[in-house]
Amino acid sequence: MDNISIEKFIAGIPKAELHLHIEGTFEPELMFEIAKRNDKKIPYKSVEELKNAYRFNNLQEFLDIYYAGANVLITVQDFYDLTWAYLTKVHEQNVVHVEIFFDPQTHTDRGISFDTVIKGIYNALEDGKEKLGISYQLIMSFLRHLDEASAFKTLEQALPYRDWISAVGLDSSELGNPPSKFERVFAKAREKGFITVAHAGEEGPAEYIWEALDLLKVTRIDHGNRCLDDNQLVEELAKRQIPLTLCPLSNLELKVVQDLKDHPITKMMDKNLLVTVNSDDPAYFGGYMNENYLGIAEALDLSKRDITELVINSFKASWLPESEKKKMITQIEVYFENNS
Ligand code: HPA
Ligand code: ZN
Repeated sequence: MDNISIEKFIAGIPKAELHLHIEGTFEPELMFEIAKRNDKKIPYKSVEELKNAYRFNNLQEFLDIYYAGANVLITVQDFYDLTWAYLTKVHEQNVVHVEIFFDPQTHTDRGISFDTVIKGIYNALEDGKEKLGISYQLIMSFLRHLDEASAFKTLEQALPYRDWISAVGLDSSELGNPPSKFERVFAKAREKGFITVAHAGEEGPAEYIWEALDLLKVTRIDHGNRCLDDNQLVEELAKRQIPLTLCPLSNLELKVVQDLKDHPITKMMDKNLLVTVNSDDPAYFGGYMNENYLGIAEALDLSKRDITELVINSFKASWLPESEKKKMITQIEVYFENNS
């Protein structure tokens, strides 16, 4: 028995991350370095000035800066460096499994080939598996502010890399872009064997979560905060144990919640929802996995047992083989026993 602090407990527990946009891990220092070598301009004079621009009132204000930042990524090496920087960072935080999004349209729409984007990311993920012991799954996310035809084209481009991609997702500007807009693309993706997930109920209404379940047949909801507006939906999510990939610091920075003390995660745990903690876009929202866990632990006075349950939820909600899930859950229980 070792009575370590909650901060050390969080830092040491082996974790899985299930909601992470690789473009959202682009730290200002690396952005300036890559811009320089590609002879691209960033409309900010310094790292400090860029960091000062990271103040958002809503999702759209963030997305405008996030897409602008991605503009300097050109070569396979750039996508490799971006992904490798993320993996080394979370390795230090004892993250052992990641299921991450990439947004191909952000790059193909400005003339970068699908092949360049995915090769850089894939090569880094493979190196991460081999050198850092981090297992992974890759999720291709469609930008919902673009049209159905663009999503169909992206799905076509992904087919030669079918073995590298586990799932398709849906992100970007939620309000006014309901899941129903992509019903046919998701049907085609399922036909090709992709798992489906979707961002829903971050800014959009509970109705969008129903659509994601009923029309896109998703097996996981990204965010899902607004499910609490609809008791019948909460019941359905709990009954089916559909995982919600929550992102506390993202919610705070994008004003989905006004204070971490208002974060719905404990309410959701009480309602038997399968909730998980994730970082979303850590370079923009001020924290990776440990900072997200610590933020809610402090604001909501979570115990080591609460943290342990949340960490176990992430492995349950992951796409690891059952044998691997069992192994990780046992390891986490031993960690809890030794450190509480
Ligand atoms: N929501 C929607 N789109 C996104 C997000 C998000 O939190 N992060 C990156 N793209
Ligand atoms: Zn997200």
